[in-house]
Order: sequence, then C-alpha cells, then structure tokens
Amino acid sequence: MTCAIYPGSFDPVTYGHIDIIKRAANMVEQLTVSVLNNSTKSPLFSVEERVKILEEVTRDMPNVKIDCFSGLLIDYASNVNAKVIIRGLRAITDFEFELQMAQTNRKLNPYVDTMFLTTSLEYAYLSSTTVKEVASFGGDIAKFVPPFVAKKIYSKYGISKNHNV
Ligand code: PNS
Repeated sequence: MTCAIYPGSFDPVTYGHIDIIKRAANMVEQLTVSVLNNSTKSPLFSVEERVKILEEVTRDMPNVKIDCFSGLLIDYASNVNAKVIIRGLRAITDFEFELQMAQTNRKLNPYVDTMFLTTSLEYAYLSSTTVKEVASFGGDIAKFVPPFVAKKIYSKYGISKNHNV
C-alpha cells in the first residue's frame, strides 16, 4: 500500500493546498495531511483548529486522513510508515528551500522520498500568509479559501462580513 504524507503549517488551508491534496490523493492509496505543531511560530489557528478545518475540507475524500506532528518530519514519516512526502511547488522561489529540505530528509532516511507537485497555475500566487494579510484588512478572500474558512479567518481578526460566508 502506498502511503504518503502531505505536511505543512496549513495556517490556514487554501485552495492551493486543497488542489494538491486532491491530486496527491488520486495517486496514492492513503494520504495523510499532517499539520506541524511548531511552538516557535505564533499561528493564527491552533493545531486543533487547523486539523478540524482540514477534516471538514477533506470530508468527501475517503483515502485522506488528517493528523498533526511535532519534531522531525522524517521521523514522523517513519512512524506512520509513509514512503513518500508530498510537497507543492508554486514558483522558483519555493525551489531552493524545498530542495534543501528534501535532500536533508533523504540523507536522514533514504527510504523516504519527497515528491513535488507543481501548483495549478490558478493558485501559483497563493499563500496562507497573503490570505491572512488581505483578510486582516477586511479584503475579499473568497477566491483564496472555502467560504467556511474565510468566515473563521475574519472572525479571528474580529471582522464581521456581510458576504454569504
Ligand atoms: O507549510 P510549510 O510551513 O511550508 O511546511 C513546512 C514543513 C512543516 C514541511 C517543515 O517546516 C517541516 O518539515 N518541519 C518539521 C521539522 C523538520 O523536519 N525540519 C527539518 C527539515 S530539513
């Protein structure tokens, strides 16, 4: 059985992440989307909130499950018997960091490989950070995240929207 993990911060999940989740889930038997529990960052959403949001987003994807992890990604991959790590590549700017991470992980454990999916063009510009920035100023994020996620983001910033979200 091919098990893959798609790790990330997902603070919050965007349509770009969802696109990668769907495409990766079509290629493997079991995909685990896993949220990094990183105490050094100050995220907008707690790990529990991000897990809940991802569960909702992937409700109709039977071979996708949601988890969280702390510590080294490569150790987590071994613990859950994943042979493949999925990462999305948006632009050349992602490449250097991703290459370094993939090669380091492969040195640490040569039995786990990283597979890159290039982000669909329509989401190539998208990042959780810019979504949060736009939302924090009350901008429209309907094209970036599902409606229920948009609602949660606005609520974090104390913004009430009359949009149908
Ligand atoms: O969504 P992100 O923030 O780009 O995801 C980055 C993530 C979670 C994949 C990366 O930071 C990670 O794997 N962190 C766990 C710690 C680790 O294994 N670091 C060494 C990688 S070389």
